[in-house]
Amino acid sequence: MNLSVAEAVERRRALRVLSPEPLTDEEVFSMAGAARLAPSCNNNQPWNLIAVRGKERLDALKGCLPRGNSWALSSPLVFAVCSQSSDDCELSDRRDYHLFDCGLAIGELLLCATGMGIIAHPIAGYDPKKAKEVLGIPPSHILITLVICGRPGTDDSMLSEKQLLQQRERPPRRPAEENFFADEWGKPLGL
Ligand SMILES: Cc1cc2nc3c(=O)[nH]c(=O)nc-3n(C[C@H](O)[C@H](O)[C@H](O)COP(=O)(O)O)c2cc1C
Repeated sequence: MNLSVAEAVERRRALRVLSPEPLTDEEVFSMAGAARLAPSCNNNQPWNLIAVRGKERLDALKGCLPRGNSWALSSPLVFAVCSQSSDDCELSDRRDYHLFDCGLAIGELLLCATGMGIIAHPIAGYDPKKAKEVLGIPPSHILITLVICGRPGTDDSMLSEKQLLQQRERPPRRPAEENFFADEWGKPLGL
């Protein structure tokens, strides 16, 4: 697959039916490499990514998922993303940039995966303390997200009704006039 950026943006979805087929080193390195090139405040690169695909560790990590995220059990690769605030700009008026910069990096990773026909789905639904222990992440760091990865699969038996619907159709976005403005707060952009 060779998608333009616009096509990758359009095609990216938080899909939940994943094949257990392993991903190649080249694919894993491409995704990690995309995150690595992301912009960050003062080029601080606050992100730490752990590519989890060894069976023992992956199974232990999957033990940190709640039932609602059982769809992720078939994944052959999970990126754990962690950082700490002091590794990035901490500026006036609550502008602590580490979460933002990690989000940028993962955004790039998601698009890169999409371009290769791989599903990469970030989640917040996991036991963070337990997962940090499983992966040896120091207590100083926040485990911001797990990015569940895999090729598209066929078995949707783990999905709830709502998840099946979301699999078929992209969940709707807020009306654009609520959060896209022109020239001043509250004046709709007209998107
Ligand atoms: C920070 C974050 C946390 C999320 N947590 C979960 C989760 O725990 N389980 C899940 O199934 N999806 C999770 N999602 C996926 C969102 O539900 C999904 O991106 C959203 O519904 C929009 O759908 P789309 O990405 O297909 O456009 C998460 C997404 C983000 C960015």
